[in-house]
Amino acid sequence: MPALVLLGAQWGDEGKGKATDLLGGSVDYVVRYQGGNNAGHTVVVGDQKYALHLLPSGILSPGCTPVIGNGVVVDPSVLLAELSGLNERGVDTSKLLISGNAHIITPYNVTVDKVTERFLGKRKIGTTGRGIGPTYADKINRVGIRVQDLYDESILQQKVEAALDVKNQMLTKLYNRRAIAADQVVEELLGYAGQLAPYVADTVLVLNEALEQDKVVLFEGGQGTLLDIDHGTYPFVTSSNPTAGGACTGSGVGPTKISRVIGILKAYTTRVGAGPFPTELFDEDGEALRRIGGERGVTTGRDRRCGWFDAVIARYATRVNGLTDFFLTKLDVLTGWEQIPVCVAYEIDGRRVEELPYSQTDFHHAKPVYETLPGWSEDITKAKSFSDLPKNAQNYVKALEEMSGAPISAIGVGPGRDETIEINSFL
Ligand code: GDP
Ligand code: IMO
Ligand code: MG
Repeated sequence: MPALVLLGAQWGDEGKGKATDLLGGSVDYVVRYQGGNNAGHTVVVGDQKYALHLLPSGILSPGCTPVIGNGVVVDPSVLLAELSGLNERGVDTSKLLISGNAHIITPYNVTVDKVTERFLGKRKIGTTGRGIGPTYADKINRVGIRVQDLYDESILQQKVEAALDVKNQMLTKLYNRRAIAADQVVEELLGYAGQLAPYVADTVLVLNEALEQDKVVLFEGGQGTLLDIDHGTYPFVTSSNPTAGGACTGSGVGPTKISRVIGILKAYTTRVGAGPFPTELFDEDGEALRRIGGERGVTTGRDRRCGWFDAVIARYATRVNGLTDFFLTKLDVLTGWEQIPVCVAYEIDGRRVEELPYSQTDFHHAKPVYETLPGWSEDITKAKSFSDLPKNAQNYVKALEEMSGAPISAIGVGPGRDETIEINSFL
């Protein structure tokens, strides 16, 4: 059995953590391939709720090896705090593997994230302030610090000095901030080296050998398709590739090994931070979706912007990721609406447009064209099979499937592991 990718089909927070955890018991490895602790993945197991930021959701399945791939950016203090938090709750984290090539979010990257956002003022992206963008910028500028650098003090010192040479000019002269001392950064980073050492591995080799031995590898995306640096609503995006191709570059596993790409799709739409969002609601329906869906950020605690389902986006996600399946989440949240509008196309400057426009200007002008589907009032949280759903809920799912371009193979009807309707097996 080869590799599977599970990723967000919208703007993040689709329920990737729950879906990954659900499969975690049946796979050998769960791999994060991009992003960092900007992610907040919620997993509910029985009466226990876990909020994971950097650790792959497979960490909660005892038989599974969690892997932080080379494409991830790692804040060591956050990682160690997350590990000890789980250990205190009795979760064994000893199997974790971290790529030596993953880049480190240094304290100065976090500072730069915060000051640049402040400097942008009302043009800000609304980042999570976790240093994600500046760390990827350093990676691309070839002045990044990697996990392996923690194990060569002289190299680490040289690299931190090189990175700070430029940043301190910017911080002091442009942003009017104090310079950051390289020695202090090096000392802090070296302080993490010993604790991280047992986990550091050649994860490219480990994953490829595992695949040769027919082990099952699941890639868990952070963020979502529309937050992708290449394919998302640039510049209102994150600084990595959550889309399917990112699983290859972010792990060192070739595309020929990937047999299934599952898009996690919320039955409505949410977004955190700034940027265009055609189906966003500013009325009591939006408020109700936020309240019933518990739409508050796991990482930053910000209220999520809420709106109706957008089929244009779902079709786009199918295309750019080569999706084989969807996992539709949070269908239960829509219970109680008499009518549910679904965006089937956009109107842009008087024209009907069926596909996501590549032009940022057009997308900013896109107005949703809605079709309205009949709702249902019956509680669906106990449904175990598709036929247990009320007819109108079945029709809503079928309509979404038809509009979105890939089969819906599972449906979430509640946050718990067992609150899932499986239609086609993923494994
Ligand atoms: P992620 O970032 O994609 O992992 O998603 P988040 O954890 O940020 O947000 C999804 C939220 O929805 C979490 O609170 C989940 O526990 C919850 N959730 C996931 N699937 C379902 C579902 O089918 N129904 C309901 N009601 N909640 C769900
Ligand atoms: P999960 O994995 C939703 C958003 C931020 C901001 C933009 C850039 O839980 O789905 P960044 O800090 O990444 O530079 O911020 O991306 N963002 C997310 N939105 N879910 C996430 O992760 C997100 N991670 C980043 O709000 O708009
Ligand atoms: Mg989240």
